[in-house]
Amino acid sequence: MKIAVYRKAHFNAAHRLYVKNWSDEKNEEVFGLCNNPHFHGHNYELEVKVVGEVDPITGYMIDMKYLKDVIKTKVEDKLDHKNLNLEVEEFFDKNPTCENITYLIWEIISKELGDAYEVTIRLYETPRNFCEYPA
Ligand code: NI
Repeated sequence: MKIAVYRKAHFNAAHRLYVKNWSDEKNEEVFGLCNNPHFHGHNYELEVKVVGEVDPITGYMIDMKYLKDVIKTKVEDKLDHKNLNLEVEEFFDKNPTCENITYLIWEIISKELGDAYEVTIRLYETPRNFCEYPA
């Protein structure tokens, strides 16, 4: 039997969205408030969905404690209370948009869990704006 398990998590982080070789006007026009050169923060809400086969002996599809620890040590510790542009190397040359953060989290967690699990990441940048990967 295949089943889906969900785990929610939370982190706060700061970012600035801009394209280096664009003018200030163009960056302002495209990224608006997220272009603030002094950075700004978001309270990110993360939902991790894991799909896999239930082990007939344990009744577990995945140990929730293990999933919780993976999210904590690999994602929260990496992103929480960080300036994403300045402190997270994946974003030194890439905009830390909701899209790109979602994909990074998917890469980290699906690599950690391995091929037996299908991972879907949903990341809320605000209560009304969120991304999901895979689409
Ligand atoms: Ni923003």
